[in-house]
Amino acid sequence: MVVPDTAPRVIDRTRVPVHIGCVMDGNGRWASQRGLPRTDGHAAGEVALVDAVDGALALGVKWLTLYAFSTENWRRPVDEVRFLMNFNRSLLRRRRDELNDKGVRIVFSGRRDWRVPRGVLRQMDEAMELTAHNSTMVMNMAFNYGGRAEITDAVRAIVASGVSAAKVDDKLIAQHLYHPDMPDPDLVVRTSGEHRTSNFLLWEAAYAEYVFPEVLWPDFRKEDLWAAIIEYQQRQRRYGGLS
Ligand code: FPP
Repeated sequence: MVVPDTAPRVIDRTRVPVHIGCVMDGNGRWASQRGLPRTDGHAAGEVALVDAVDGALALGVKWLTLYAFSTENWRRPVDEVRFLMNFNRSLLRRRRDELNDKGVRIVFSGRRDWRVPRGVLRQMDEAMELTAHNSTMVMNMAFNYGGRAEITDAVRAIVASGVSAAKVDDKLIAQHLYHPDMPDPDLVVRTSGEHRTSNFLLWEAAYAEYVFPEVLWPDFRKEDLWAAIIEYQQRQRRYGGLS
């Protein structure tokens, strides 16, 4: 299935971010503005997620990481946590075939610990297996993900390997993150006007450009993603050096 490229001409196709991260924030506020339960806001966020994927595909983005559940989100009310577990599982089941048709490879970043229900893990494995051969774009769901947890897990693996302290450097740590082949995000978009990282891709986003659209996640559409890319293309990236 080919996603039509209707992105504005003002986007420089030679400088499209290779990897975009999205913090899908504002679902709860979107729902309460409408007198609805917070969980309805998450459900409404599904359309935004699919549209963001289409917007990224249209421009040839290679990695899209979506923050779907953080290691801290277990602190939310038990009903909301239960909803989010079921929602993520059913979202994968509902959307995996169309994502597969679009050439999307689905992967996950996060801890597969005892708190994640077995049924969710099963759907995650099925989505990964189904789409493993795809190469158009990787959709990386950050699920039970925390940047600190990811670095902790990398350090644990390094220590367990018995490597000497002098051999530990940036490259070795990066090789022990959840996806050693994942390019660092060039752009991180957090919706809803909140200006925080909230433990998202802490290591990998060291030199990412951040864009904070005011729009609440359920209202986010591909045009908002393209606007963020236009803003990104106006930034000057220096990586600590001089331009
Ligand atoms: C960070 O804010 C935001 C997230 C971890 C995203 C959570 C996303 C959802 C719960 C909805 C997922 C939606 C879809 C469509 C799959 P935070 O609230 O964890 O951190 P904060 O307390 O610093 O704001």
